[in-house]
Amino acid sequence: MKLEKIVVIGAGTMGSGIAQWFTQAGLRVTLVDSSETQLRKALSDIHDSWDKLVARGKLAGAESLKERLSISSLEATDPSADLVVEAIIENLEIKKGLFRKLDALFAPHTILASNTSSFPIAQMAEALSPSRKPKLLGLHFFNPATIMKLVEVIKGPDTDEALCHDLYRWFDERDKKPALCKDSPGFIVNRVARNFYGEPLRIVGNDANESLLREVDSVLREIGGFKMGPFELMDLIGIDVNYSVTCSVWEAYGREPRFTPHPLQKKLVDEKRFGRKSKRGFYTYD
Ligand code: NAI
Repeated sequence: MKLEKIVVIGAGTMGSGIAQWFTQAGLRVTLVDSSETQLRKALSDIHDSWDKLVARGKLAGAESLKERLSISSLEATDPSADLVVEAIIENLEIKKGLFRKLDALFAPHTILASNTSSFPIAQMAEALSPSRKPKLLGLHFFNPATIMKLVEVIKGPDTDEALCHDLYRWFDERDKKPALCKDSPGFIVNRVARNFYGEPLRIVGNDANESLLREVDSVLREIGGFKMGPFELMDLIGIDVNYSVTCSVWEAYGREPRFTPHPLQKKLVDEKRFGRKSKRGFYTYD
């Protein structure tokens, strides 16, 4: 499999990390977002990250990386890209609307991928023409995408099986740990992880008492062996993103009680306490 030019749509937490990783993997990358401000911020943050790596002696030079990463509007993007990775807001109707546009804009050979955390690929495929459906799959990266090795490769009902295997090998050869997944809500990690968040939320109850949060986080981190505690991780992921994933997995499994969202998640979202990105979530950040 040969990938040279890719487009990443959505320049938020995930899209900017995915664009940075693909650029570091040697590809020519175009980053797109509906918000011009977000797009410029993402580019500047990625440049800063490379400059810091150079200053710490972890990267020889950043010029060729900077030259290979550009920003653009969707309409002005080169339609001959090999792969488009969608990483916009977790909303099925908005994602389907975008896929309809991508199908019309990009060349017949272009592979389309979604970084959705929870929606079945089958539902996004409904927006595509019959000839594009074999070229749609899920590529689910984890946060931060430049560091986390796992990439879930999700085959939809019409996805070309050989394409999934080719991409699996492509990632495997580039220091990622791909995993082939069934097209079911939450795939592997986000399905298993619902309980990693849900049980701790039920333990702390409705008031996010900081000392109790810290206690639960430290037990799971230091004794459980997880890299981060559940509240630290929700703050990193974004409580809004995590809450919408919880809701869509819960709905997709017929509102099964074990997947029920916790009222505290909604309360924090309503108060715009999204976690690190808004400086306040379960914890406060400077
Ligand atoms: P985010 O809120 O940080 O970024 C989303 C970006 O998409 C924003 O910059 C927004 O302006 C842009 N956007 C929204 N609608 C758009 C459109 N129609 N066209 C172009 N740009 C548009 O969200 P985040 O966290 O990066 O999540 C993106 C996707 O990745 C979601 O599907 C989410 O479920 C998934 N995901 C998130 C993870 C996380 O830890 N935050 C982990 C793995 C997957």
